[in-house]
Amino acid sequence: MVQQSIVGTARATPARREPLIREVVARVRAALEHLGTPTVRRPRFMRGATLERRVEARHLDTDRLRLRPHDMRDADAWHALASDARVIRYLSWPHRDAAAARRHLRDRTRHTTLWQTDDFLALAVTHRGQLVGDVSLQLRTVASDARAVEVGWLLSPEHQGKGFATEAVRGILHVAFKDVGARMVLAVVEDGNERSLALADRLGFTLLHRNGRSHLLVLTPDAFRRG
Ligand SMILES: CC(C)(COP(=O)(O)OP(=O)(O)OC[C@H]1O[C@@H](n2cnc3c(N)ncnc32)[C@H](O)[C@@H]1OP(=O)(O)O)[C@@H](O)C(=O)NCCC(=O)NCCS
Repeated sequence: MVQQSIVGTARATPARREPLIREVVARVRAALEHLGTPTVRRPRFMRGATLERRVEARHLDTDRLRLRPHDMRDADAWHALASDARVIRYLSWPHRDAAAARRHLRDRTRHTTLWQTDDFLALAVTHRGQLVGDVSLQLRTVASDARAVEVGWLLSPEHQGKGFATEAVRGILHVAFKDVGARMVLAVVEDGNERSLALADRLGFTLLHRNGRSHLLVLTPDAFRRG
């Protein structure tokens, strides 16, 4: 359904474009309201339009961190991270034993390309060679004038309080705005997840919508540049 709007948006005259973009945003918002329930991805041939070029996961260095594609050699560290109750409290993730965490990490090693709607790209956040977190992007709408990406983040409790998450998310936001060409980056934060709300605020996100359960936040390229 969103895809139909995207096609319409791309063809619209400038006067008609703004309401169409608003409609796309409303549909993205409606879709995001269902977060928390498992997402069923449509087969690739049904996912329609593509980016002008594929965006592939790559190494990114920030002042103190390296972001890079996930690697199965981090299986133990990933299990510790993905089964820590403090980390998953506000995520829709189940508690995973070592085997489930391994499968989960294996999936993440394959999530390295953004090209079509729903594509997901995850990067390991490392500090001095050690896995300390994860940042991700999911392509929500492709049309260039309403292109939207959703960002996700998590950091090991031992490494919180040092600005690492701010630094890592800034790194992946560069990918979203520069490589993907996003017009907006969305973040969904559950009620009560105060550290994530503070992080989003530091990065320049503003509230787009709030339901009883979560905040839908948005970051524009201008706000990112100002941040
Ligand atoms: C959300 C989350 C990543 C935030 O982590 P965080 O440590 O609070 O964020 P940062 O790493 O950016 O650190 C910010 C803190 O470091 C401090 N800091 C120290 N040095 C800093 C620096 N160089 N730059 C920025 N902040 C710095 C800041 O003042 C801030 O401190 P405060 O919490 O006392 O205000 C983390 O709580 C988490 O992983 N939560 C669980 C996963 C989750 O819920 N994900 C979100 C799903 S939407």
